[in-house]
Amino acid sequence: MHRTHTCGELRLQNVGEKVILSGWVNQIRDKGGLIWIDLRDRYGIIQILIEESSTDTETIAKARSLGREFVVKTEGTVSERTSKNDKIPTGEIEIKINSLEILNPSKVPPFLIAEETDGGEDLRMKYRYLDLRRPNILSKLQLRHKLASEVRKYLDGQKFIEVETPVLIKSTPEGARDFLVPSRMNPQEFYALPQSPQTFKQLLMVSGFDKYYQIVKCFRDEDLRADRQPEFTQIDCEMSFVEREDVLQTFEGMVKHLFKEIKGVELPDFPRMTYQEAIENYGSDKPDLRFGMKFSELDQLAKGKGFKVFDDAEKIIAISVENCANYTRKQLDELTEWVKRPQIGMKGLIYVKYNQDGSLKSSVDKFFSQEDLKAWVDKCESKPGNLILVLAGETSLTRKAMNQLRLEMGDRLGLRNREEYQPLWVVDFPLMEYDEEMGRWHAMHHPFTSPVAKDMEKLKDTPKEVRANAYDMVINGIEIGGGSIRIHDREIQQIVFDALGFTKEEAFEQFGFLLQAFEYGAPPHGGIAFGFDRICALFGGVDSIRDFIAFPKNTSGRDVMISSPSKIDESQLKELHISLAKK
Ligand code: AMO
Repeated sequence: MHRTHTCGELRLQNVGEKVILSGWVNQIRDKGGLIWIDLRDRYGIIQILIEESSTDTETIAKARSLGREFVVKTEGTVSERTSKNDKIPTGEIEIKINSLEILNPSKVPPFLIAEETDGGEDLRMKYRYLDLRRPNILSKLQLRHKLASEVRKYLDGQKFIEVETPVLIKSTPEGARDFLVPSRMNPQEFYALPQSPQTFKQLLMVSGFDKYYQIVKCFRDEDLRADRQPEFTQIDCEMSFVEREDVLQTFEGMVKHLFKEIKGVELPDFPRMTYQEAIENYGSDKPDLRFGMKFSELDQLAKGKGFKVFDDAEKIIAISVENCANYTRKQLDELTEWVKRPQIGMKGLIYVKYNQDGSLKSSVDKFFSQEDLKAWVDKCESKPGNLILVLAGETSLTRKAMNQLRLEMGDRLGLRNREEYQPLWVVDFPLMEYDEEMGRWHAMHHPFTSPVAKDMEKLKDTPKEVRANAYDMVINGIEIGGGSIRIHDREIQQIVFDALGFTKEEAFEQFGFLLQAFEYGAPPHGGIAFGFDRICALFGGVDSIRDFIAFPKNTSGRDVMISSPSKIDESQLKELHISLAKK
């Protein structure tokens, strides 16, 4: 027998019991007559005591030969500690040892296996199996497990069934780059790894499954960021005989359930915001509503006064930053440099200090009177003590830049509290976006997203104005999930394909199987997919999804532990009918 108990479960009430414990040596302290071993497993840490006076010499020698991370088995008696440790749940007791067995020695680990480690990111990733021994990383994966099991509980309760869909498929319509897999049996042909199970879940609706979900790996070959991995997990869902409201209610319910069960937080009903409102008021389709600084447009008030920057601008946007009127020249210069960085791309920043005494001081006093400036602060619904920051330029660029500046000011002022949650639904996305590079329209969500019925007639002449029956769930500025009501009518699908510039042949070549299926009685349907890794990171209070993935890729898409991607043999290439181009 390797153990009677785990390292985390014994307490004062077990005093006197004979126990067998196995685990990893977390730490050893040798004080001559007394040796302590901290033994660790997934469940916790427990102290083992070896008293030289009452232990045989062989056991003592063995104890002294131990190193960090050795795997050992001990037998002993639970006893009350004289000096207690209130930092760990087993801190009131220790195990007085009878015997010690080394099950496996360990090399000295390349970094400290502890909450605070000395290992850098690369080293920890190379030895990820050791990194995963660290309690704080382990707890993140435990949180992931708890979230997955609550998702299943909720969806099971709503009569969803989990269905697995294939991984070797054909390109899906999500719009990122595909990962491709060559087919040995079908020379010169490739599978694509799914960017999502989108087409399969729609086929399952045609099959009459009614309510489908899957916690599923998806693959997208795109540039990586803190909240993006090339393989990530979705909670992918689809429902039949539903309208937008049914989907929003069901999945708002799911997210409320997760917050209640895991965080003990009861979220109120989620507000709704149209895409247009989000862009105009926050410059982003995923606004962080934990703080204000809503945009105010000053175009009407600030143009025509001889200030060229404003007169030439397509859009003039201001935010009012609370209690910052006392910003120094140096702080304002630094902020100006900040907006001039290439990532932000603005030429400059204009400010108005709305001083506590009601006076106004701006960087453009030469062009604007106190009355002019007062009209600006009124438009911003600003209070004395606030600092107004103004950006001007091309509309879309200025909105994007102001979004970044708003978030930056939110960060600087500590307004983005990780323990506060502000969810919302962003609805009425545009159906299509114009791709300047390709010179054509493409679906903002995917080509099966249904247009808002009222907007159908605009498809031909003003496609930009057509809204989609699509929605995103956003929490604290993070896009947690997105979905849409699908087109189930072949005629409408054809109109949308036409608008997207797909010829009949192209559409059939890419999605023929789905179009064909729709001829056999497709029910009205819609769904959503959540970024599961993002939900985990949100619940764990961090930005990066990487710690919530057992074996993640680094920012260059590499798994440094298994050295992947890697070169393959000539013979393997040959078998796959592939020859490599010279670099
Ligand atoms: P979408 O492309 O919006 O929709 O993806 C759904 C959600 O998946 C998450 N996500 C990612 N998470 C980590 N790394 C990535 N690279 C990554 N890409 C996306 C986001 C996003 O909101 N088939 C549709 C859903 C539908 O219409 O039902 C789809 O995949 O949180």
